[in-house]
Amino acid sequence: MNTVIVGTQWGDEGKGKVIDILSKESDYIVRYQGGNNAGHTVVVDGCEYIFHLIPSGILHKGKICCIGNGVVVDPVVLLQEIKTLTQRGIDINRRLKISHLAHVILPYHKILDQLRETKRTEKLGTTGRGIGPCYADKINRCGIRMIDLLNPKIFRIKLKDNLKEKNEIFNKVYRHPGFSFNKIYREYLEYGRRLKKYISSTHHLLNRAIRQKKNILFEGAQGTFLDIDFGTYPFVTSSSAIAGGVAVGTGVAPIKLDKIIGVAKAYTTRVGEGPFISEFPPRFNKFMRDKGNEFGATTGRPRRCGWFDAVMVKEAILLNGVSELAIMKLDVLDGLKRLKICTAYKYKGKVFREFPYDLGVLRNALPVYKEMPGWVTSIKGAKEFKDLPLRARNYLRRLEELLKVRIKMVSVGSSREETIFLD
Ligand code: IMP
Repeated sequence: MNTVIVGTQWGDEGKGKVIDILSKESDYIVRYQGGNNAGHTVVVDGCEYIFHLIPSGILHKGKICCIGNGVVVDPVVLLQEIKTLTQRGIDINRRLKISHLAHVILPYHKILDQLRETKRTEKLGTTGRGIGPCYADKINRCGIRMIDLLNPKIFRIKLKDNLKEKNEIFNKVYRHPGFSFNKIYREYLEYGRRLKKYISSTHHLLNRAIRQKKNILFEGAQGTFLDIDFGTYPFVTSSSAIAGGVAVGTGVAPIKLDKIIGVAKAYTTRVGEGPFISEFPPRFNKFMRDKGNEFGATTGRPRRCGWFDAVMVKEAILLNGVSELAIMKLDVLDGLKRLKICTAYKYKGKVFREFPYDLGVLRNALPVYKEMPGWVTSIKGAKEFKDLPLRARNYLRRLEELLKVRIKMVSVGSSREETIFLD
């Protein structure tokens, strides 16, 4: 069974917990896009682990974890993650696999990411990790891949060419001194040497695993509305976060995918800039941010919060082919007198029931809400659907009616145990 976990909002939906739960029944856990702009925290036996690149499935004994060709890899961050895991006694040898075709984030990508933001009239609010510039080089056909770090001759030619052009841009456009060839060359060859044992042709490995009927879990990073094509462009990340990204980001053909699980928070959050129609007013925003502990796992930035937006999630279901949903952090809505679900947008007298891509509409449209009474009691201890208060059940049923997809999992707390499974 080949399953994809995909975010249906702007990332941070709680995919990490769903992946952690489903990792148990998987043989392989695979990242297909993004880089260390992603981040999630997993708590096991009171120990906290923060992951940016390595799939958290590595915590489950015997599982193979792959970083697919669609991922951009910062070797500094990856080696640090490997070191931390090893120090904590987790054996990753023979279990971590990095595609030789994955592109490498170099120091100039990170600096360029940050400098570009300073020049923009409208900031994107990127994570500053070099993600956009690295993907840009990939498409520009001047990127450096993991396989190049293993071949000093090729790496030398590619890096020389890159620095020739990039240093001019750094000097002339950004008044930045630029980068020394020797320093990067030596440092990154050394990273290649240290990572060599993990680098391989992961698309062959995965296709072999499929032939052997192994279970593979593909974990999406970010979310549908940060997708380079279908997100709220330009306030997006630079990769294909939707389920379609699995095929190009791993070399597994789309016909091989069996199930797409969409993950949505019971409300909405967004980090960084860009339109957000159902965003809460400032005071309530702060209240809910504190209640839900909505701060980025990667940058620590406060997340913007808002009501559940069914227009967005419906679009995500369509784009990803979502067959079932996981609703996360339902407990954060405990104690709210009234709940709202955004069911349409209104702009200049026109009602939008389908997600509009025009930035002018997205920026200025007003939300149309369906209101529902909230529940007062805490739902944290609920083990089954029937344990939830009637109003919480009604909220979930209403979401299913609006989205026309079954909810199969509901999260009522951060631990693995605080999860309700529905038939
Ligand atoms: P970049 O991916 O660093 O280029 O950032 C582009 C946009 O995507 C910014 O608004 C980021 O805040 C957002 N972003 C990137 N990764 C994540 C993530 O894992 N969760 C939530 N937002 C993200």
